[in-house]
Amino acid sequence: MIAIEEYTRQLLKDLHPVIVANRAPVDVQLEADEEYRFVRGGGGLVTGLAGLAQATGAVWVACAREGPDQELSASDGSEPMSLQTEEGLRYRVLWVKPPRPAYDLYYNTIANPLLWFVQHYLWNLAEAPILDDSTHHAWTEGYRRVNQLFAQQVVNEARRGHKRSLVLSHDYQLYLVPRLVRRELPDAILQHYVHIPWPTPQYWKVLPQYMRDEIMDGLLASDVVGLQTRSDVRNFLLTCEENMGLPIDLRQQVAFYRGRTVWVRNYPISIDVREFEASARTPAVERAERDILRWRPRHVIFRVDRMDLSKNIVRGFLAYDRLLQVHPEWRGEVVFWALLQKTRQNVSEYREYARQVQQAVRVVNERHGTPTWQPIRLELRDDIPRAIAGYKQFDVLLVNAIYDGMNLVAKEGITVNRRGGVLVLSENAGAHEELGQWAITINPFDVDGTAEALHRALLMDGVERHARAEKMRGVVEQNDIARWISAQLQDLRDLVEPAAARRPELRQLS
Ligand code: G6P
Repeated sequence: MIAIEEYTRQLLKDLHPVIVANRAPVDVQLEADEEYRFVRGGGGLVTGLAGLAQATGAVWVACAREGPDQELSASDGSEPMSLQTEEGLRYRVLWVKPPRPAYDLYYNTIANPLLWFVQHYLWNLAEAPILDDSTHHAWTEGYRRVNQLFAQQVVNEARRGHKRSLVLSHDYQLYLVPRLVRRELPDAILQHYVHIPWPTPQYWKVLPQYMRDEIMDGLLASDVVGLQTRSDVRNFLLTCEENMGLPIDLRQQVAFYRGRTVWVRNYPISIDVREFEASARTPAVERAERDILRWRPRHVIFRVDRMDLSKNIVRGFLAYDRLLQVHPEWRGEVVFWALLQKTRQNVSEYREYARQVQQAVRVVNERHGTPTWQPIRLELRDDIPRAIAGYKQFDVLLVNAIYDGMNLVAKEGITVNRRGGVLVLSENAGAHEELGQWAITINPFDVDGTAEALHRALLMDGVERHARAEKMRGVVEQNDIARWISAQLQDLRDLVEPAAARRPELRQLS
């Protein structure tokens, strides 16, 4: 359990907290013996919020997404369901059960790829997206509809309690939820947190005006909009100003909308350092490490990612190809180990990307491989103990995201690595604001530059490696998940509650 400082405990004492996210905190698996098993869900959002749910005891409103989720939730009434993981963590989940076609339009057309690609600048604009009636249909019958179902469950949960509700909604799948909840619960405290980058106002104009206005109208019903980085906050406020014509204050980080003051703050998400260090000592991780020690050469470059276009996996392999050409002395001395998971396979762009990734591996392995040495070791599996073993064993961790909200792989990796592993980090990952000074910074599009960064990382002497690793570990320890949580709760107390009394000059400006 995360230690929440006393003042936040006091704040929560009089509130009924509700977390809202598309994904549940756990993945539901149906075993051969017909028993359900609950394992930690994937992605940075779940990693961060699981701690928040534990600390606050909040009900988590989530979508029944796939087969086992749906089967389990079908048996459930309208009350939250208590789910316990094998590690003994208990969550209370209230399911949202959208009809399949609506979920498909919401998740596989609007959220991914449309919004995800806009927010990570992934559209190749000369060709895509092409927005037409089918997009409009997906918006109204999918995105809007599923957001309404979420809001309805939040309101049901809020009305079950006798205290004022604190609704913590999350990410790009649920931008309409704050407005829909505000209509029903005008006095609730609402915070919406966006885990992914907030692009410039100009790039939002890829979306038609009605869509982007509805997104902003939804979000600006919150009391606080939380984002990852300072640059996200700035882009958000500029979007309010340029695309919505709203008055903003960049210094105080507020926007004024429909008679309300909306606070816009950055809270860089992090990990639970102590819990993560403990998970690095489990027998499953130690077993995986022993396996790695059997095949690892002197140097290991490591990456672990969902096979998402934003992660820039193909350019990572092109850079490695370049490294082996320009610096042939590394041949046979190093392995690039990529531990990847398939993701969002109902979206054609993701299926195509998974194919390109595997093709790139084949090309590099054929070009440079020998009978005794395979340059890239590709493993397609979702295996947390193995990932943690990789974190402990890397000499170089490659995080070359095109754009990334934060990137918890970087934080997890440097927390448990004890080899003085070097972080090669994209300047466009949110984690760069905190760690860039001690990492080797790369421009993710520049494959020659990335190849040189890998070379430099591999050559770096032990003293410098350990000194840099130590600094980075210190930063993550300082700003761990407890701080992420308490900073948000403290702001809710400081900003929202007394705003009316203390800051009349900021009220009712629009
Ligand atoms: C990122 C997003 C989350 C999402 C996760 C996994 O971390 O910010 O909202 O849950 O990726 O993606 P998925 O589509 O599998 O939920």
